[in-house]
Amino acid sequence: MRIYRAKDYKDLSRKAANIISAQVIMKPNCVLGLATGTSPIGTYQQLIDWYKKGDLDFREVHTVNLDEYVGLPGSNEHSYRYFMNENLFNHVNIDIANTNVPNGLAVDMQAECRRYNELIHSLGGIDLQLLGIGRNGHIGFNEPEEAFEKGTHIVDLTESTIEANARLFDNEAEVPRHAITMGIRSIMQAKRVLLIASGLAKADAIAKSLFGPVTPKVQASILQIHNNLTVVADEEALSKCNLPEEGCIVC
Ligand code: GLP
Repeated sequence: MRIYRAKDYKDLSRKAANIISAQVIMKPNCVLGLATGTSPIGTYQQLIDWYKKGDLDFREVHTVNLDEYVGLPGSNEHSYRYFMNENLFNHVNIDIANTNVPNGLAVDMQAECRRYNELIHSLGGIDLQLLGIGRNGHIGFNEPEEAFEKGTHIVDLTESTIEANARLFDNEAEVPRHAITMGIRSIMQAKRVLLIASGLAKADAIAKSLFGPVTPKVQASILQIHNNLTVVADEEALSKCNLPEEGCIVC
């Protein structure tokens, strides 16, 4: 794994956007796995900026998002489809038909899980998967469990995730209790993984995920055995890892 220490959120966002834009430039018809949450907002803003300057072209890019709340339509401002449209897709020249988010309103959720797995497969897999991290080490909505779930599946959100995500809703009661998420196999099969983390609230999760035992109790810990993992994190998020002060760390 390669860890880039960022000075702050702005620096983190620019570094992460640089890695994503390199992917798009090297392979214009690549498949990007995308994430929601506050962590990637700055990265998306930077990509939009470079697109507007003429440095990036998303015409041939396909995207698959990690997850979606069950029960929210894409028109709901709290849905992840809405988030992606607002924070990236509506501002670049991507073909919206090439963007994919699991359907949280599917009548048959098991069929939707199968469809999403097949979709990722039919696109030839993910070239670069962007990930944020939950305070309990979750990636996508893969919550701490007894085992790693392989494919797309439905999850019961944990109390800590509901509480953490409540800040984006009017109140905690409004946070959906279930989500549909890409599984660990799809994430691990991505050719390259880019994990971003910012702030003290992520310091424990980052230390356990990158340097603790590989365990489904900390789902992001599986990333230690991915053969092309890049981590971009700020000083605070790295504060509980015992790392050299300067430069890019390869471990
Ligand atoms: C949600 C998303 C995750 C995201 C996490 C952290 O639970 N499902 O994909 O990584 O929140 O979000 P934030 O970046 O806002 O801390």
